[in-house]
Amino acid sequence: MFAARAVFAAGQRRAFSASARNLSKVTVLGAAGGIGQPLSLLLKLNPRVTELALYDIRGGPGVAADVSHVNTKSNVKGYEPTAAGLAEALKGSDVVVIPAGVPRKPGMTRDDLFNTNASIVRDLAKACAESAPDANLLIIANPVNSTVPICAEVFKARGVYNPKRLFGVTTLDVVRASRFVSEIKGTDPVDENITVVGGHSGVTIVPLFSQSNHPDLTSNAELVNRVQFGGDEVVKAKDGAGSATLSMAMAGARMTDAVLRAAQGEKGVVEPSFVDSPLYKDQGIDFFASKVELGPNGVEKILPVGAVDANEQKLIEACLADLKKNIAKGVAFAAANP
Ligand code: NAI
Repeated sequence: MFAARAVFAAGQRRAFSASARNLSKVTVLGAAGGIGQPLSLLLKLNPRVTELALYDIRGGPGVAADVSHVNTKSNVKGYEPTAAGLAEALKGSDVVVIPAGVPRKPGMTRDDLFNTNASIVRDLAKACAESAPDANLLIIANPVNSTVPICAEVFKARGVYNPKRLFGVTTLDVVRASRFVSEIKGTDPVDENITVVGGHSGVTIVPLFSQSNHPDLTSNAELVNRVQFGGDEVVKAKDGAGSATLSMAMAGARMTDAVLRAAQGEKGVVEPSFVDSPLYKDQGIDFFASKVELGPNGVEKILPVGAVDANEQKLIEACLADLKKNIAKGVAFAAANP
């Protein structure tokens, strides 16, 4: 307890005595939602965040007033749900996190959210391209496999696309994989580093257990299925009240922290993420999640998938077929609905 407090206090001192380079504005779009609220709280606890801008079409200022009383040094501001409020929330932002959009209900796939969320994400991406074109953009809104390509198209159309700054947040798949493995093996999840590649929905989520501490798990079809469809457990248990929010907030906060650490000069920060990737471009797949090394300019290096076994090769093939369609759907939407 005391040790944890000391670490936190030291982190705070470092962040706040640091140069202007280390000042970090983080904006959350969809801040009053199931993910947005706990995510905003976790970001308020992160000493690397110096300014926290909270925007939602309803309730942003309320969440901001509440979170602003947490006694860490960052300034928190909530913005009115107007175009001017959105532009102000985005101005000067280093990281924009987007959990805006509707979540799943039982029986729905992430793709079923497309019709509603595609236009929400497109409109928010337009505002980002206008007011924060150089920010790192972290997309949580589903279906991530399609919403990330939509953002890319919006930025391209405005001549401000920087593929190094656009991330689909797949961290929750990695978080789940390490937790599920630790439950089976009786280990501490902190020691379980499971690479998950592909995309973020169903069979496009491919855990690579052959590269982990427990290569034997690659033949555990039940575990593979649990990682791919872990989100469904939460949707079912919430029984119509939404999908993962708390674990997602933790995962979103972890990804934001990784981007900030790298931006502030830390070396060797690696997080799997769904990015504009060369790995399968020869097969017409422009976005793919794999381990990404982060740096001051966003994506520093996209690491290869690495050696996989026969089971995993099959999973990757199934993934690529679906992923290609999901990406094409996003690109087609952006073209038809500019
Ligand atoms: P929610 O419905 O609780 O919250 C969404 C929030 O977005 C609401 O407060 C709503 O007012 C706001 N919003 C809607 N349109 C907006 C706009 N144009 N501008 C700003 N705010 C807007 O939903 P929840 O549970 O927070 O989920 C949000 C999204 O995150 C969903 O699409 C869900 O599928 C996705 N998700 C992604 C995960 C991932 O691993 N990437 C995991 C879990 C959920």
